[in-house]
Amino acid sequence: MFSRIASRLHGETNPLYRLRDSFLRQSVPVHDLISGNINEQGFLFPQERLEEILVRASRECLIYRPDSLGRKSAREAVAEFYSGRGVSLDPCNILLTPGTSLSYLYCFKLLADEGDEILCPQPSYPLFDYIALLSGVRLIPYRLVEAEGWAIDIDRLEAAISTRSRGIVLISPHNPTGRVTSAEEIACLAEIAARHELAIISDEVFSEFLIGRKALPRPAGSSAPLVCTLNGFSKMFALPGMKFGWMALSGERSLLDRAMRSLELISDTFLPVNETVQAAAPEIFRHGESLRTDFSRRIVQCWNIAQEILDSTGGCHYVKPQGGFYVTLSLDGLDEEEAASKILDRNHILIHPGYFYDMAPAHLVMSFAQKPELLRVALPALTATLSGLRAGHPADCKKNL
Ligand SMILES: Cc1ncc(COP(=O)(O)O)c(C=O)c1O
Repeated sequence: MFSRIASRLHGETNPLYRLRDSFLRQSVPVHDLISGNINEQGFLFPQERLEEILVRASRECLIYRPDSLGRKSAREAVAEFYSGRGVSLDPCNILLTPGTSLSYLYCFKLLADEGDEILCPQPSYPLFDYIALLSGVRLIPYRLVEAEGWAIDIDRLEAAISTRSRGIVLISPHNPTGRVTSAEEIACLAEIAARHELAIISDEVFSEFLIGRKALPRPAGSSAPLVCTLNGFSKMFALPGMKFGWMALSGERSLLDRAMRSLELISDTFLPVNETVQAAAPEIFRHGESLRTDFSRRIVQCWNIAQEILDSTGGCHYVKPQGGFYVTLSLDGLDEEEAASKILDRNHILIHPGYFYDMAPAHLVMSFAQKPELLRVALPALTATLSGLRAGHPADCKKNL
């Protein structure tokens, strides 16, 4: 009765999450040190202001008059956001979507036929597998090298390109390594993309959260023939429930025209973006500017706290993140799955083993976008458990938060 795809769409709960669920069933609180939902960590768009904006916006939408690319005023606001960052984008080449995850599906559908290939970073946030399955695309990993601060192995990336390759996914700042792709790497990628006629899909959802740097190098405006820049409100304004994102296309005129015609039809088939949210977007951008600055300052503070604790407790090597919410902890020698489950069992802290991200063993991945008070309690407990495991005395470090 069901499709072959449907038979592959039944993810099983892994042992770590089964343990987490059993704690929750017993009403034992679990400290989630991995969720990217920063609302839970106290990052909130001011509620009253949001209500005012949404009420005003809903009055603009009493009569439904959809635009298949998305409301012009919202697309202009997106273009203005980029012009404030030195990137010139035409609102006609911007498509609104209900978030970056769906933008990926549109990109894959735009670029690739069944069996065609998209190059994706490895390790990576585990978002693409199901999107690739749904779109019939084959994902071909390209390596990020930990010893080089998770830089792209450009030679191996180019060696992985085949006649079926259609695009390269770039995530910067990267989830979960925290790597910000350098301007030099982007120039190399753009040159490779031009030589092999590939599009670059640039996932910039963490663009506003940079650590120790002011500007994000972007593929838009590079020599790549076609760049789809993806972003949305979920991280930058801590509005994941607003379901507002975009794809901003740049590159060669003839490719842009063809791409936008197809994207417009894909989007027109569903018209999936809430009209009130679209009408609210310009004001959210305007009001959100100072909020965004405040969020990114707080995220840097969170990292500083986490770094201080990790450095003072020792025992965990890490590559310092240049952006985003995540850090990869290298466990040299320990079993990452055992470490993650011991940390959950003893400290009631949820943190991921690296294999969730296709990372070579042995690593843990955590989000430092947390309440400072939680970091101050959870991180010493976590590192004590790791030291206990190393010393072979895990029971010594039992400490529930
Ligand atoms: C790298 C990356 N891209 C995309 C997304 C999804 O973004 P959205 O909430 O806009 O769908 C996430 C979510 O955490 C992410 O980490």
